[in-house]
Amino acid sequence: MSSKPIRFLLNDEEVSLADINPNTTLLQYLREKLGKVGTKEGCASGDCGACTVVLGEVSRERSSTAEMHYKTVNACIALLPNLHGRQLITVEDLQHEGQMHPVQKSMVEQHGSQCGFCTPGFIMSLFALNKVHDRPTREQANQALGGNLCRCTGYRSIIDAAMTAANKTDHFDSSSAITIRRLQAIADDSVGTTIELSGNGYRAFSPQSIGELARLSETYAEARLVAGGTDLCLQITQNLDQFDTLISTLDVPELCQVELSEKGFTIGAAATYSQFITPLSQQYPEWGAMIERLGSLQIRNLGTLGGNIANASPVGDMPPVLIAMGATMCLRKGDRIRQLAIEDFFLDYKKTALEAGEFIQSIFIPNASDTTHLKIYKVSKRFDDDISAVLAAITLQLKDNVVSAIDIAFGGMAAIPKRAVKCEAALRNQQWDDATIERAAAALSEDFNPLSDARASSQYRLQVAQNLLRRAYIEISSPEVVTQVITHA
Ligand SMILES: Cc1cc2nc3c(=O)[nH]c(=O)nc-3n(C[C@H](O)[C@H](O)[C@H](O)COP(=O)(O)OP(=O)(O)OC[C@H]3O[C@@H](n4cnc5c(N)ncnc54)[C@H](O)[C@@H]3O)c2cc1C
Ligand code: FES
Ligand code: FES
Repeated sequence: MSSKPIRFLLNDEEVSLADINPNTTLLQYLREKLGKVGTKEGCASGDCGACTVVLGEVSRERSSTAEMHYKTVNACIALLPNLHGRQLITVEDLQHEGQMHPVQKSMVEQHGSQCGFCTPGFIMSLFALNKVHDRPTREQANQALGGNLCRCTGYRSIIDAAMTAANKTDHFDSSSAITIRRLQAIADDSVGTTIELSGNGYRAFSPQSIGELARLSETYAEARLVAGGTDLCLQITQNLDQFDTLISTLDVPELCQVELSEKGFTIGAAATYSQFITPLSQQYPEWGAMIERLGSLQIRNLGTLGGNIANASPVGDMPPVLIAMGATMCLRKGDRIRQLAIEDFFLDYKKTALEAGEFIQSIFIPNASDTTHLKIYKVSKRFDDDISAVLAAITLQLKDNVVSAIDIAFGGMAAIPKRAVKCEAALRNQQWDDATIERAAAALSEDFNPLSDARASSQYRLQVAQNLLRRAYIEISSPEVVTQVITHA
């Protein structure tokens, strides 16, 4: 199989990269190799948004109405393979013909900057917001800015800038037809190839088809897979690890698909949260609301479902919900494909059932019946962009006020995302009443002996888990009480 270099547009200039250490983050590349220091480094861990840049993409489907889609990403936790076939826009690119971009003007007019360190990151988030929504609502502005921290200006004037910059066109709009043609030409030239980057003895492959991903994964069984990189890059920036061989899944079309059939959702392992949040929310609003609190928009634009599962973090948000929904996964090694229930994937702390050379291809979420109650609760110190202390996911069916089906899984309560087996047994085939709930809450202490760490103590976690069960009971049995409490709060 022939290999080719990474090609992308740096604003409007085409760049080809073959000889560079693939453990280089996008931020290091911009600041240290290109001297583009407008993009700042605050935390190097995806938390502050100072390094926000924008990636422009063309949808894969060819049509005369192809459009550019823009998304913010954290340059500090993105790797160079993320750039292939895309347009990279940094804060240096927004000025045009000596004029500030409309979002920059709005920031000045609304006094949205003081020391200025966070400002390039905010500007890029505002730029992408302006591209995605003609007239963003305040809620959409808050969502777009949830991953940007400012320690001195305060947020009101920045949000005002977001609202006043709305619905302005710019030079990216006037040149979009040319940009689309150039990106499509790169995509056409990449079909059937593998994109390769190597330097300082390290290398990365970006296969462009699933067959090639399977071949490379088997050939280089010691290689590390990378999708969005939002977990993996922390090992590079925080632990100072370097990976000898990386294989990127991001450009494998079969891994990026999201399909809804009569039976349920099939989500490719490399589909990002931003790709599947809308269809998933339409069917399961509670799940969509939880995903809106998973990381920031920058994280959701890069992070993938496969990465969240394979990372096997005890506090990952998706696995408990997938377990409670009875989801399964499709694993592939060479030509062999096997199906596994999500709950059987997690063996021990950070230990999974994945074999060497095997990868997650897709995840299947069977449709819940119309009578299923789904409850998802994320408890974290901050509402936005924070890792869960506890995440509870419950699916329940009642027949004549008796629990006819129950699945409960928790994150943050054990070394792995885990089903609450004893609690389920205390509920199954029992009357749905106060006494049953109290027995089930007590059973949770037999299911779990949670850790104490910086996020929460063991005692707090257990108490919260029990209270979440009680909350689900009240919300399901007396929704009118809950509405009253919220209305009068
Ligand atoms: C600031 C910040 C906030 C975050 N907030 C949250 C949060 O609120 N909730 C939460 O759950 N997570 C959170 N995360 C963690 C992370 O963003 C998610 O877990 C994300 O889904 C990881 O996906 P990725 O594509 O970036 O994974 P990557 O970093 O690319 O990969 C993660 C792991 O999965 C492996 N992998 C990737 N794809 C495959 C595949 N197809 N088959 C087999 N192995 C694979 C990689 O080898 C690696 O070990 C946060 C991270 C950051 C930096
Ligand atoms: S430097 Fe803080 S998010 Fe990247
Ligand atoms: S303006 Fe100083 S950190 Fe935001």
